[in-house]
Amino acid sequence: MSLPDIILVTGTDTGVGKTVTTAALAAVLRRRGRTVAVYKPCQSGNADGDSDIAEIVRLAGAMTAEAGVVLQQPLAPVAAAAVDGAELPPLAAHADRILELAQSHDHVLAEGAGGLLVHLDSDGGTLAGLGALLAPAAAFLLVTRPALGTLNHTTLTLEALEHRGLAVLGVVLGSWPASPGTAEHGNRQVLESLPVPLIGAVRASASELSPADFRDQAAAWLNGLPE
Ligand SMILES: Nc1ncnc2c1ncn2[C@@H]1O[C@H](COP(=O)(O)OP(=O)(O)OP(=O)(O)O)[C@@H](O)[C@H]1O
Ligand SMILES: [Mg+2]
Repeated sequence: MSLPDIILVTGTDTGVGKTVTTAALAAVLRRRGRTVAVYKPCQSGNADGDSDIAEIVRLAGAMTAEAGVVLQQPLAPVAAAAVDGAELPPLAAHADRILELAQSHDHVLAEGAGGLLVHLDSDGGTLAGLGALLAPAAAFLLVTRPALGTLNHTTLTLEALEHRGLAVLGVVLGSWPASPGTAEHGNRQVLESLPVPLIGAVRASASELSPADFRDQAAAWLNGLPE
């Protein structure tokens, strides 16, 4: 698959490295001379200082970066919105904004909340549903863990995407350890043999690099990224 205009970054779980991977992807695309916007439909945990778009801009450099809605508690969007007394935008509002950003940028990278089927609005809308609204301009990038348990989570998510007829760009290991063990090596081998490409593996501690080193190294981590 060639690189789609809109890349929806999902994960097998929360905390798997979606944000670090999105930053690496943005850095690679910008090095290729492309213009990039990043969009986070629902940002939870603002009261704790969580801001995925701020982290992406810190690592990948200044670019258009927006959240659809910002919620205070570090909870799933529906639960966090209930605490705040906030309304969650409907999926169509996120889709409209992403399409608008896609008019003025070569690529829009949108990072989901948690995994694929987490509810992003009060009607049960999910990142998968957003992908359906944005098809055929969008494809999914699935960020996964290298550790034991990842094969089930990865294949379940890929099956859910396939079942919905949604396009998949590939899989990325969100945090590849400096000293991988037997489980990590074995899992990587299996992930390499899936019907969708393994685009790469972001090194663990990537976010501790200086932004300059992060941008220099990102292309090597995502070495399977198509043109
Ligand atoms: N490759 C990596 N290098 C450095 N730190 C990482 C890496 N992957 C994950 N982390 C760390 O693990 C934590 C979770 O990573 P990250 O925020 O990218 O996950 P996420 O999937 O985006 O989570 P969320 O569902 O909250 O958006 C962060 O503290 C991040 O710094
Ligand atoms: Mg994140």
